[in-house]
Amino acid sequence: MEAPILLNPERRMLSVMQQQPSMEWSLESLLSACNWTDQAVAVGAGHGLTNHGYVTTTEDVTRSVNLAKEGIKASDNGLLEMRLWNWIKAADKATMANLQASFERHEAGPGVGLLKRIGVHLVDGIFLADNPEQVEGIIQQRTAFIESLPRTTEELSSELLDHFKSRRGLIEISESTTRTWSITEAGSALGQDQLIEKQAIAEITAELLQSDAWKDAEFRAFDVTLESATPRTGRSHPMQALIERVRAIFLEMGFSELVDDYVQTAGWNMDALFIPQDHPAREMQDTFYLDSPASIPLPEDLVKAWGDIHEHGGETGSVGWGGAFSKSTSEKGLLRTHTTVNTIQYLAQNPNEACRVFSVDRVFRKEAIDRTHLPEFHQIEGIIMEEGANLQMLVTTLKTFYAKMGYPEVRVRPAYFPYTEPSLEIEVKWRGKWLELGGAGIFRPEVTEPLGISTPVLAWGMGLERLAMLVLGLDDIRQLYISDLEWLRNQPIL
Ligand code: PHE
Repeated sequence: MEAPILLNPERRMLSVMQQQPSMEWSLESLLSACNWTDQAVAVGAGHGLTNHGYVTTTEDVTRSVNLAKEGIKASDNGLLEMRLWNWIKAADKATMANLQASFERHEAGPGVGLLKRIGVHLVDGIFLADNPEQVEGIIQQRTAFIESLPRTTEELSSELLDHFKSRRGLIEISESTTRTWSITEAGSALGQDQLIEKQAIAEITAELLQSDAWKDAEFRAFDVTLESATPRTGRSHPMQALIERVRAIFLEMGFSELVDDYVQTAGWNMDALFIPQDHPAREMQDTFYLDSPASIPLPEDLVKAWGDIHEHGGETGSVGWGGAFSKSTSEKGLLRTHTTVNTIQYLAQNPNEACRVFSVDRVFRKEAIDRTHLPEFHQIEGIIMEEGANLQMLVTTLKTFYAKMGYPEVRVRPAYFPYTEPSLEIEVKWRGKWLELGGAGIFRPEVTEPLGISTPVLAWGMGLERLAMLVLGLDDIRQLYISDLEWLRNQPIL
């Protein structure tokens, strides 16, 4: 086995010890022989050398007994039992009442107990000792004990020590370790050449690297187990980091990103998606309608096309919703309630080109804020328009996305949206439970035909905050937006 590389203090200590191989070194003798003042250096070097087998350490724990607060008073004024006994000897009438008149209550009370235990009793109301010499003897022993402090536990009678330990505040015991070191055979055998102290390099500088000095230099080892402060550098908010990840995944899957406004018309947000004009989700209490612009003009022919679809199904063979379609309802300004409002407009502008488009963007709904709801949140939206696109392809695409996010278990269940057929709900398995993360489907002819689209379109919209709750293990969605610095600092890098 190769000899371990010693630290400089270890080299110095061993070299000193080699000169007197039979000596038992005390801390003081080592400090002076090594020319050190810091005890910790000596103890540390001794510890290192002991671990290498070059030195043995003998530890001797001494317990010393010192006077505590009450003990210091007793050594100045005498122990309580002595003062009481002196009073009894001098008193005309050593009665309980007189004792109480001469001593304070906190002394008189415990004092009577102390006296009883050394043989002083009340006989017909007067304090009397059966054996006064014995009482004197005990008191003398106790006084001598107190006056002899501080001493080590070994130097004291254990009976008296136990007695004083049981009395409050008289003595205290402290522990100290004394060490001695002696050199082992292996330590004596180590060559002097290994004990030459070298300058250890703690910091690598440009000068060092440019010179040749580093070749023979000794480098101080890093102790990677030591506690250290965590560097607090700037970083993305976990929500932003998650958005970046979602983006990266869709870009990698061949999608292009769509970014569009959140001020929209009810026409694009709902009518284009064949959501009936009397649908409950369109009510004021569910949707943020705008005062300004309260209304945004829409092209006549577009409104006419939606009207035909809604009233009687247009050319699609559908019967529509019936009733009368209102242009002014269609032109109402609102904050988009889903990002499907943007993908549908993208399709209207590009009705004949196959595409894969996604967006991660903000939507608004009049929700009361609670653990799982916010009035402003984000959706991950996507469409695939392609000849032959089908339900299987939709499910596979969603499964691929979630697998890349780290959730390989995905299932779909039948659902309903006015604009897709079939429609489905996407669920992801998390901690053994299925959680609903979004909706998807294939756009209905009522949606695609008025826009001149004849190729199948797969579409989905999923909640980003819901996904964030899974990724970050949250049970309250609000945590994402309260700027809790401590929490933010401790989030994983996504
Ligand atoms: N827009 C729907 C929502 O807000 C999700 C969805 C998008 C469903 C596309 C089907 C198709 O939840």
